[in-house]
Amino acid sequence: MNFPDYESGIPDDAVAALDPLHADAVCARLPAMNERADLSAVCTSLRTIIPTTEQVAAFDPLECLAAMRDIGILLGSVKRHGAEPVLAVPELEPVLLELGARTDLVPRDTVHHYTCWNPRGIRQRMYTGDPQETHLIDSVRNAMPRLGAAVTICARLMRLDPADPAFAESMNVVADHLQAMVTSISDVVAQVSPVYFARGLRPYFEAITVAGTEYLGPAAANMPLALVDVALWASDHGHESYDCFHRESISYSLPPWRRLYTGWRRGPSLAEVISTAIAEDDHGPVQAAAEALCRALRVLIVFRGKHVTIARRAYEEEVGLYREGSGGGTVELLARILRLTRDIAAEVGVRHQRLAANVRRSA
Ligand code: HEM
Repeated sequence: MNFPDYESGIPDDAVAALDPLHADAVCARLPAMNERADLSAVCTSLRTIIPTTEQVAAFDPLECLAAMRDIGILLGSVKRHGAEPVLAVPELEPVLLELGARTDLVPRDTVHHYTCWNPRGIRQRMYTGDPQETHLIDSVRNAMPRLGAAVTICARLMRLDPADPAFAESMNVVADHLQAMVTSISDVVAQVSPVYFARGLRPYFEAITVAGTEYLGPAAANMPLALVDVALWASDHGHESYDCFHRESISYSLPPWRRLYTGWRRGPSLAEVISTAIAEDDHGPVQAAAEALCRALRVLIVFRGKHVTIARRAYEEEVGLYREGSGGGTVELLARILRLTRDIAAEVGVRHQRLAANVRRSA
């Protein structure tokens, strides 16, 4: 099968420019239909854009991604108004399965469809049309390429000796890329009200059932940050609850990242590799590597501190409508991940300081 060329990188703007289902007009009308909670109009619109299996067969791989994006925004809307999409529109199911198979992704839209492959401006696919929705889409759109770059560098780091100066250099670049997550969440904290997220948008990200299996909505939680964690520390310093979360989350990820996860999930993590190197030679050149890892972990802590604060507000009892996030996790899980990130940063920090003292003594 001719899959999208994920290894070379998907040209996001090229996918965004496509409209294989001629859905521009329908998508432009969707926020108004949603505002009226007009389930029947959303279902009718969805029926008008569903391609036949022959049409899907004629799509190239990037058109398949764009088609899933447009079907996705409508089916999330159907679910929000109380119907199970494949029951309300039965012709949907074979098309979702076929588009999932053609793109080597789950048989529904993911966070990539909703953000990176979503056109900007007047053609942007939106559930609500509220400017706050654009801020949320942009926050992920802007951070995703930097997170992808961080994953690629982690893959290089797995092959490097921590004593090699290139290791510390690359780890510092990972920290720089992770900074994009901090920028994104800061923008969201400044521009998006927790009440809008909780009541206006979150209901569109509910799970749907396709061929008897539940699939989660296009949540930011499925960005590959957990994969970066697994590389840096979480494969051997995690917790069962976080392991469950990243095991599930990775299935919504792009195929090359799913393969990396399989290779990394049993460790050793880069934190472990650095600790072992320090234990074997406590006078040495791994100091810069440990320092750079601490820097990367501190960036994660800043992101997670801000993120858990807004998540807590959005899921407060009097604000939120759900107990769980759209990615299948809870605010308690976020707090736990933050604690785990702090713990590993403290552990690596202590090792790094001891090593630095040793290096100073022997100088
Ligand atoms: C109002 C804004 C937001 C709220 C209320 C919120 C809420 C949540 C919740 C409850 C979770 C737990 C897992 C789940 O979704 O089921 C989660 C996970 C996650 N969210 Fe958000 N989120 C928000 C914005 C963002 C933004 C803007 C980003 C990234 C740019 C982001 C990235 C993540 C990531 C990567 C996770 C996985 C857990 C982690 O790495 O700490 N979220 N979010």
